[in-house]
Amino acid sequence: MTARAQTPGYYAHHIFFCLNERQNGEQSCAQFNAQAGFEHCKMRVKKEGLAGQGKVRVNKAGCLDRCAGGPVAVVYPEGVWYSYVDTADIDEIIDSHLKNGQVVERLVLAPDVGR
Ligand code: FES
Repeated sequence: MTARAQTPGYYAHHIFFCLNERQNGEQSCAQFNAQAGFEHCKMRVKKEGLAGQGKVRVNKAGCLDRCAGGPVAVVYPEGVWYSYVDTADIDEIIDSHLKNGQVVERLVLAPDVGR
Protein backbone atom coordinates (compact mmCIF):
# COMPACT_ATOMS: atom_id res chain seq x y z
CA MET A 1 0.00 0.00 0.00
CA THR A 2 1.30 3.46 -0.83
CA ALA A 3 1.54 6.33 1.64
CA ARG A 4 -1.09 8.19 -0.37
CA ALA A 5 -3.57 5.33 -0.03
CA GLN A 6 -3.17 5.45 3.76
CA THR A 7 -4.01 9.14 3.96
CA PRO A 8 -7.52 9.70 5.30
CA GLY A 9 -9.90 11.38 2.88
CA TYR A 10 -11.07 14.94 3.39
CA TYR A 11 -14.56 13.56 3.92
CA ALA A 12 -15.38 10.38 5.81
CA HIS A 13 -18.13 9.72 3.27
CA HIS A 14 -18.85 11.40 -0.04
CA ILE A 15 -22.17 10.63 -1.71
CA PHE A 16 -22.95 11.54 -5.31
CA PHE A 17 -26.49 11.60 -6.73
CA CYS A 18 -27.04 11.31 -10.46
CA LEU A 19 -29.50 14.06 -11.44
CA ASN A 20 -29.21 13.57 -15.17
CA GLU A 21 -32.25 14.28 -17.30
CA ARG A 22 -32.50 13.05 -20.88
CA GLN A 23 -34.75 14.81 -23.36
CA ASN A 24 -34.71 11.99 -25.93
CA GLY A 25 -37.04 9.60 -24.12
CA GLU A 26 -34.29 7.30 -22.81
CA GLN A 27 -34.39 6.44 -19.14
CA SER A 28 -32.58 8.81 -16.83
CA CYS A 29 -32.47 9.28 -13.07
CA ALA A 30 -34.32 12.61 -13.15
CA GLN A 31 -37.47 10.70 -14.17
CA PHE A 32 -37.47 8.96 -10.79
CA ASN A 33 -37.35 11.92 -8.41
CA ALA A 34 -33.56 12.03 -8.17
CA GLN A 35 -33.66 15.76 -7.42
CA ALA A 36 -35.96 15.17 -4.44
CA GLY A 37 -33.71 12.40 -3.15
CA PHE A 38 -30.64 14.61 -3.43
CA GLU A 39 -32.31 17.56 -1.71
CA HIS A 40 -33.64 15.37 1.08
CA CYS A 41 -30.19 13.91 1.71
CA LYS A 42 -28.52 17.32 1.65
CA MET A 43 -31.10 18.77 4.04
CA ARG A 44 -30.89 15.93 6.54
CA VAL A 45 -27.09 15.75 6.53
CA LYS A 46 -26.90 19.49 7.19
CA LYS A 47 -29.68 19.48 9.79
CA GLU A 48 -28.01 16.72 11.78
CA GLY A 49 -24.59 18.38 11.74
CA LEU A 50 -23.07 15.61 9.63
CA ALA A 51 -21.74 17.90 6.89
CA GLY A 52 -18.15 19.07 6.58
CA GLN A 53 -14.51 18.06 6.73
CA GLY A 54 -14.01 14.65 8.29
CA LYS A 55 -17.75 14.01 8.00
CA VAL A 56 -20.13 13.86 5.03
CA ARG A 57 -20.42 15.68 1.71
CA VAL A 58 -23.48 15.38 -0.54
CA ASN A 59 -22.95 16.25 -4.22
CA LYS A 60 -24.97 16.23 -7.39
CA ALA A 61 -23.57 14.45 -10.42
CA GLY A 62 -24.31 14.04 -14.09
CA CYS A 63 -24.89 10.64 -15.61
CA LEU A 64 -22.91 7.96 -13.81
CA ASP A 65 -23.60 5.50 -16.64
CA ARG A 66 -25.62 3.07 -14.54
CA CYS A 67 -28.96 4.46 -15.68
CA ALA A 68 -30.83 1.14 -15.81
CA GLY A 69 -30.71 1.02 -12.00
CA GLY A 70 -31.81 4.61 -11.55
CA PRO A 71 -32.11 6.61 -9.60
CA VAL A 72 -28.62 5.85 -8.39
CA ALA A 73 -26.21 7.26 -5.83
CA VAL A 74 -22.67 6.17 -4.97
CA VAL A 75 -20.85 6.46 -1.66
CA TYR A 76 -17.07 6.83 -1.45
CA PRO A 77 -14.52 5.88 -0.28
CA GLU A 78 -16.16 2.44 -0.30
CA GLY A 79 -17.57 2.82 -3.81
CA VAL A 80 -20.93 1.39 -2.79
CA TRP A 81 -23.66 1.96 -5.39
CA TYR A 82 -27.28 2.36 -4.34
CA SER A 83 -30.57 2.33 -6.15
CA TYR A 84 -33.22 4.07 -4.05
CA VAL A 85 -36.95 4.59 -4.42
CA ASP A 86 -37.96 7.28 -1.97
CA THR A 87 -36.80 9.49 0.89
CA ALA A 88 -37.23 6.62 3.36
CA ASP A 89 -34.50 4.81 1.44
CA ILE A 90 -32.31 7.91 1.62
CA ASP A 91 -32.91 8.08 5.38
CA GLU A 92 -31.78 4.48 5.72
CA ILE A 93 -28.58 5.19 3.75
CA ILE A 94 -27.88 8.18 6.01
CA ASP A 95 -28.61 6.39 9.27
CA SER A 96 -26.87 3.15 8.43
CA HIS A 97 -24.05 3.96 6.00
CA LEU A 98 -23.20 7.64 6.36
CA LYS A 99 -23.50 7.67 10.16
CA ASN A 100 -22.34 4.15 11.04
CA GLY A 101 -20.49 2.78 8.03
CA GLN A 102 -22.96 -0.08 7.60
CA VAL A 103 -23.89 -0.76 3.98
CA VAL A 104 -27.65 -0.98 3.30
CA GLU A 105 -27.51 -4.29 1.48
CA ARG A 106 -31.13 -4.27 0.31
CA LEU A 107 -30.51 -1.08 -1.71
CA VAL A 108 -27.18 -2.05 -3.26
CA LEU A 109 -27.20 -1.96 -7.04
CA ALA A 110 -26.48 -5.30 -8.70
CA PRO A 111 -22.91 -5.33 -10.07
CA ASP A 112 -23.92 -5.86 -13.70
CA VAL A 113 -26.37 -2.95 -13.99
CA GLY A 114 -25.13 -0.47 -16.53
CA ARG A 115 -26.65 2.03 -18.87
S1 FES B 1 -28.98 8.94 -15.95
FE1 FES B 1 -28.41 8.46 -13.92
S2 FES B 1 -26.79 7.05 -14.13
FE2 FES B 1 -27.25 7.67 -16.16
